[in-house]
Amino acid sequence: SPNGLTHSRLFLHGQGWHATQGAMVGSMVASACFSARPTDIMVATLPKSGTTWIKALLYATVHRGEHPPDAADHPFHTLGPHECIPFLELQLYNYKTGRVPDLEKLPDPRLFATHVPFVALPRSVVASPGPGCKVVYVCRDPKDTFVSLWHFINKLRAKKGMEPLSVEFAAEQFCAGVSPLGPYWEHVLGYWPAHLARPEQVLFFRYEEMQRDPAAHVRRLSEFVGLPFGAGEDGTADAIVRLCAFERMSELGATKDGKTEMLDNAVDNSFFFRRGVVGDWMNHLSPEIAQRIDAVTRSKFQGYGLISL
Ligand code: A3P
Repeated sequence: SPNGLTHSRLFLHGQGWHATQGAMVGSMVASACFSARPTDIMVATLPKSGTTWIKALLYATVHRGEHPPDAADHPFHTLGPHECIPFLELQLYNYKTGRVPDLEKLPDPRLFATHVPFVALPRSVVASPGPGCKVVYVCRDPKDTFVSLWHFINKLRAKKGMEPLSVEFAAEQFCAGVSPLGPYWEHVLGYWPAHLARPEQVLFFRYEEMQRDPAAHVRRLSEFVGLPFGAGEDGTADAIVRLCAFERMSELGATKDGKTEMLDNAVDNSFFFRRGVVGDWMNHLSPEIAQRIDAVTRSKFQGYGLISL
């Protein structure tokens, strides 16, 4: 289907990337129950695009007043970014718990996340006409996203005593658009036009550019959410970058020992940290697989004004 939901659903019956039927159910419940406020901020990504990083940066930026980034008791020491900014369809509307959370009492700005394609967002998030809420989208080179996903899924499989998926099989599925939460390319192409049409509502970041200049991205993020750094905040953006850096976050107790309940998995927080670099695909993909992914990317992105990833 255009939004990839059918693909993911079909894949449930295959050998599985752990494509999440539960996420689809959660997404439908969220669509029915979640009511966005104009002050809400929604992180939107495909899995393995840098979600954990952007969540950390956003949370640290928004809450820098009450939790200075270099404070010894910063929440990140005990809470992982996925607990600080929960996913609608994987955590808050997790059909496994059977509970619909009361989000009304949460103070503004409320911070949420989602992996669902643009067309599957709750209507109130992107309401037009209507205020909608702010959306922060992050995309990543599809080859690195794929390699990261392949590793992540094999870690989940290993925990369940399942055989690892071969990179060839996984790449075949990925290129056919069969991935958890739908095809990579359609996901990006859902959020990109929304960003072009309403840049003040939908921010579009790339993982590779964030790596090149993280402090500039923190400043853009702070302006986008209406909390620009003021006089007396010299160095705060850099402190946030340091707090959220891969090397720092992966050493925290919340990462090493913590778990996050997502659907029917208690996922080790450490699974969200692997290498955290650009171009690791070179260490895992044959030239044929890399060229195949590049060919799909060229054909899908042609004409959309998305520079080559
Ligand atoms: P790799 O597997 O390539 O290392 P997500 O958070 O969307 O699940 O994405 C996980 C990917 O982001 C992993 O990529 C992980 O290592 C990387 N990552 C996690 N935290 C990061 C951080 N603070 N800075 C940069 N990359 C990070």
